[in-house]
Amino acid sequence: MKNMNIAIDGPAGAGKSTVAKMVADQLSYVYIDTGAMYRAVTYEALKQNVDVNDGLNLIHLLHQLKIDLMNQEGKQIIQVNGVNITEEIRSKAVTNQVSYVAKHLEIREEMVKRQQELAEGGGTVMDGRDIGTAVLPFAELKIFLTASVDERAKRRHEELLSKGHPSDLNILKNEIRKRDQIDSEREVAPLKKATDAIEIDSTKMTIPEVVEIILSLARERKDMM
Ligand code: DC
Repeated sequence: MKNMNIAIDGPAGAGKSTVAKMVADQLSYVYIDTGAMYRAVTYEALKQNVDVNDGLNLIHLLHQLKIDLMNQEGKQIIQVNGVNITEEIRSKAVTNQVSYVAKHLEIREEMVKRQQELAEGGGTVMDGRDIGTAVLPFAELKIFLTASVDERAKRRHEELLSKGHPSDLNILKNEIRKRDQIDSEREVAPLKKATDAIEIDSTKMTIPEVVEIILSLARERKDMM
């Protein structure tokens, strides 16, 4: 039986990556974090002083970057031209600039092409903003995962505090709102639920509950394939 592709889209902080990783593990599928790919080019742009509003120079830069997503001992690793930048792409600077990089048509076209190649053989769980609408419009299962802004900020706040980082809940809320706005209002492939995606609001749910719903939907779809 052919392995399917599962698309998981939704706003920042809804729990997509945690859920997608767990679903992929359960199905022995490959997890593909497309946000990490946009973060990688943003990190390189900041490092090389390329303006995040300059689409032409950004695409020139991206063409020089070989981006690899790998699983090492159960941990997701991202390499650019052979250098491990897994930690660096989560910095505040990258987080606050990545939405500007992700706005450019040329960047999105190149990313979509690379992501489609990764999913060619099936057996992937891919998370992002435009997977169900643009990258994998024929994915066998599409999920749109949401949660309220307050809940998403609270989760991020607790995560930062648990890692010993300083955090301000109100600043986080504003940053999340700002990213939601840029991601949803951009002209190219804005964050939007695909018409055939199943929406799951995780505000009052636990992660294992969300994972179980997706796994049971995946089993149903598999039976139909
Ligand atoms: O999921 P994340 O926070 O790592 O995503 C980082 C940024 O990249 C976010 O601002 C939205 C953008 N992104 C996108 O436009 N399309 C994707 N498929 C994935 C992420």
